[in-house]
Amino acid sequence: MSSMFSPLAIPASAGIGLRSPHIAEMLTRRPSAGWLEVHAENYMGDGAGVEALEKLRGIYPLSVHGVGLSLGSARGLDRDHLERLRKVCERFQPDLVSEHLAWSVADGAYLNDLLPLRYDEEALAIVARNVETVQETLKRQVLIENLSAYVAFADSSMTEAEFLAELVVRTGCGLLLDVNNVHVSAHNLQYDAKAFIDALPAEAIGEIHLAGHATNHVGADTVLIDDHGSRVPPVVWALYQHAIDRLGPRPTLIEWDTDVPILDVLLGEAMWADMLTASIMFNRKQAIRREQTTKTRATPIHLSVQSETTTGMPVLAAFAAARCARPCMSAALVSIEEEYHAAA
Ligand SMILES: [Fe+2]
Repeated sequence: MSSMFSPLAIPASAGIGLRSPHIAEMLTRRPSAGWLEVHAENYMGDGAGVEALEKLRGIYPLSVHGVGLSLGSARGLDRDHLERLRKVCERFQPDLVSEHLAWSVADGAYLNDLLPLRYDEEALAIVARNVETVQETLKRQVLIENLSAYVAFADSSMTEAEFLAELVVRTGCGLLLDVNNVHVSAHNLQYDAKAFIDALPAEAIGEIHLAGHATNHVGADTVLIDDHGSRVPPVVWALYQHAIDRLGPRPTLIEWDTDVPILDVLLGEAMWADMLTASIMFNRKQAIRREQTTKTRATPIHLSVQSETTTGMPVLAAFAAARCARPCMSAALVSIEEEYHAAA
């Protein structure tokens, strides 16, 4: 496989989803953005959009995100669709390729939604076989994304997180952690969002998605809808903070698909993601420094008999031993010793 693009590894910083209203502006302005992500299905043909992406691919690292493979289909994958995806990857040489843990095709009919699976051994065998087929065809690892769900199968024998963790073990795939999807599903299906993130294998998570969602009121209940049509809300930023605190920096995408705003709004959301990650990592370093300082301070000071007999004063022996054990002992302690001598 030859490449017309120089390799641009995806950085562990924030990128934006490339949407058609922004393509011309991206080409002329070339704003600072960590990387771009496109939907594979939008670039399976030819046309102006494809030519523009070829130009942008020379400027920005690229991730290709599929929405139509239907990895949960028991009858196997649509080979024509997989071949189209292979050609997209061959053409644009993306740094990351991802798809969803979902099914969306039945008897050749493509449904307009990504539907959840029953999480059990039978479904795991089907998805693992399909993921292996994709990885063998593309000759690369793919990342599998957790779903936003509104219903679930009552007879699942494992959680979605356990299912994804086992899928990683069986296929060697990576994971795309959509933090907004976790929040939406956790709210709708009543489970602990942080526990979901904690149950995933950290080393397998190669990308994170952030997005907004809509809130629908149904009687006394609320149903969250994963519409990707607004800014990342505070509750999702808080969950992202939990994820980064556990995982460390990861390539993070701002997803926005409906009511797409001006480009600067997307770039601003990406900037917030980078700032939050930098803040978390700074605080972590500070905490490690504090811990090391506390450990150093806790080091016991051993007074030697020699010191004690030389000075004849236990407190001065303590000063002497302390300075010996801690060359960087503060000047304040030294001045206390000098004052003590002066007073004596
Ligand atoms: Fe997503």
